[in-house]
Amino acid sequence: MGVSRGGFSSRMGFILAAAGSAVGLGNIWGFPTQTASNGGAAFVLVYLVLAFCLAYPAFMAELLIGRYGQSNAVSSMQRMSHQLWQKRFAFIVGFGGIVCAALILSFYGIIAGWMMSYAIEPVMRILNFNDAGKWLVEQSLTRNLLFTSFFMLLTIFIIRRGVEQGIEKWSKRLMPMLIGLLILLIIYVFTLDGSREGFNAYLNPDISRIFEPDLLISALGQAFFSLSLGTSVMIIYGSYIAKKENLVTLGAQVTLIDVSIAFLAGLLIIPSMYVAQAQGVAIFAEDGSLISGPNLVFDVLPTLFNGMGFVGLFVAFGFFVLMSIAALTSSISMLEAPVSFVVERHNLERKKATTLIGMGILFISAMIIFNFDVLFGLVISASTVYGQPLIAMLCCVFVGWIWQRSEVLAEIKAGNPDVEHRLFWKIWPWYTKFVCPSAIALVFWHSL
Ligand code: PHE
Repeated sequence: MGVSRGGFSSRMGFILAAAGSAVGLGNIWGFPTQTASNGGAAFVLVYLVLAFCLAYPAFMAELLIGRYGQSNAVSSMQRMSHQLWQKRFAFIVGFGGIVCAALILSFYGIIAGWMMSYAIEPVMRILNFNDAGKWLVEQSLTRNLLFTSFFMLLTIFIIRRGVEQGIEKWSKRLMPMLIGLLILLIIYVFTLDGSREGFNAYLNPDISRIFEPDLLISALGQAFFSLSLGTSVMIIYGSYIAKKENLVTLGAQVTLIDVSIAFLAGLLIIPSMYVAQAQGVAIFAEDGSLISGPNLVFDVLPTLFNGMGFVGLFVAFGFFVLMSIAALTSSISMLEAPVSFVVERHNLERKKATTLIGMGILFISAMIIFNFDVLFGLVISASTVYGQPLIAMLCCVFVGWIWQRSEVLAEIKAGNPDVEHRLFWKIWPWYTKFVCPSAIALVFWHSL
């Protein structure tokens, strides 16, 4: 690890930071929303299979690229390339990922802004500023602009400070609190009328739906989004891990944390919808499917919290604060992607680069806010449904077909001396070369 580049100070620091990047709105907003709009448990099942069978191997590919290259995505992949066309290909894949990260951040900041305004609303109600509270939870241009900007400024502030003091310190403290609160809320929901039906809708899949093209492509995009793949983020985080660490288990631990939190979030939100139904709220659309859309979480959860009376105000505050923080540990990883590229390739000073790029992305967010109906969905599907799996697929192609096999194996072995006896060693190189790219291509083809 180069002295000037910085890196994670400990293994725990990495796990928490990578998990911090992975765990975010994707788990608690994206996953339940997608589950509701894609038929409940069938989506959950497909998601779990894709997360472990495709996203985890692709995640390992990115971590290995980063740790080998010890640099941003483009430079890391170019280090493995020997011919000019390979270097060009490396540039396209690496830069494509960076653009993807920037686009994701531009819509992510908007949703994170909603989380923050929902966190302040209960405080306003406790203080009896009811009008202000109302303004905070109604869609408006000014609210969106204000909170998105605030969130972006926080992200910029942390990234300006670099890896250890910024990223690692924050992720370490806050992730465990989020998990604890989720579990408590699920237990609470379990005691409410209507929740049984919700658990059933969440856990009992309708097998006939699992090959539906829309469901498959959404589950694929969601799995890659949730692990922050195809954005060069995990390449960079990989580059900050010491050679003595065992990447195979680290990657598996992060995947497990990420998938578990998404699963828990679904276990909270979907049954909460049925609890709301028992209280007279309509949760089905005309065609019999569950209502969803970007507001789902923001409609369902406040209903749940309101049902708790005065305590609910504190729970709502705690929940949305933790969500904003989870979003922040993800957004900093997104901003780190373009920043490390510009700093390392163009010798720009870190602080300057961070502010410039952050402001540029905030400008894109503002454009989305002004043209919300057209751009919001478009940017989300371009970057997450298509961009991320595509770039992640190209990373697998890179590892399988361009990076020298002996070097790949050496990198897996670093920090993991007896890996040769393990399943991962026997299967993964071959799997990444053939199975991952073709499986991802197949899902694309099926959905088109
Ligand atoms: N994985 C994050 C989440 O689930 C989002 C993310 C995507 C972060 C891409 C970084 C890069 O919220």
